[in-house]
Amino acid sequence: MQENQIECETLLDAGAVLEKLRRSSLYKQFHWLESVPSTQAVAKQIGEENAPHGTLVWAEYQTEGRGRRGRVWEAAKGENLIFSLLLRSSFPAEDLFWVTACLGLAVCHGLETASGLAGMIKWPNDIFLEGKKVGGILTEARFDGSLTRYIVSGLGLNVNWNPQKAEEMPYPVTSVSREVGECIKREDLLGEILQGFERLFSFLECGNRRSIEEAWLSRFILLGKRVLVIGDGGEFECTVTGLRKDGALLIQRSNGTEEPVFAGDVSLRM
Ligand code: BTN
Repeated sequence: MQENQIECETLLDAGAVLEKLRRSSLYKQFHWLESVPSTQAVAKQIGEENAPHGTLVWAEYQTEGRGRRGRVWEAAKGENLIFSLLLRSSFPAEDLFWVTACLGLAVCHGLETASGLAGMIKWPNDIFLEGKKVGGILTEARFDGSLTRYIVSGLGLNVNWNPQKAEEMPYPVTSVSREVGECIKREDLLGEILQGFERLFSFLECGNRRSIEEAWLSRFILLGKRVLVIGDGGEFECTVTGLRKDGALLIQRSNGTEEPVFAGDVSLRM
């Protein structure tokens, strides 16, 4: 083993997580899977069937994990957190961003409890720790007319993984154990994230989005920064000025005009 490398692969103790969630009124059904093509695909499939609001699909390992914009999400067995959450709430499309925001904030809260370090969010769905990507969220929905029939929000979080094993990435990556220098009990972190999500999501469902917006902006790593946006229509540099109510990124071009960005990859310029 190389110096400063932390090896801590163990299977998740689902009973410990259930114990932590015993008072939850959100989480109704749990699917603890060892290996699956994608928890996102399973959650969508059971969303088409009768699985209830608050169903958690968790896996130790995925063979076809998917990220945003059709990318692959790789995660080693026994080292990370991989799950998708099925929600049967009725939201208009412009509120979906706030489901991702609730999960992102819950992850930041969980990271702080587990590691003492402040997690940050890079629009729209990346979780950053110490300036490097530590996780990502993928939120998808099936609509009935203009409202969601069900939502699936999936998280991949590098917990006890060694980033030296990563293939060449276009941005720096890390794991929680890498940043704190010790193994993390995944049960505790997962329990904290799920409890935090339940609390934040209840605000969203009650129409109390303001507190979520404020919390999200305080974790927003890009605010006021010079960035490169790579979207479907090409790439350009600009300054990030804020976030719109529908979750679009607000940017200012070099000529002073302000405009929203709805999709794309955003990277910080040094
Ligand atoms: C991203 O950063 O692009 C988002 C990554 C989301 C990955 C998670 S892992 C659990 C769930 N299942 C999947 O196939 N994808 C999401």
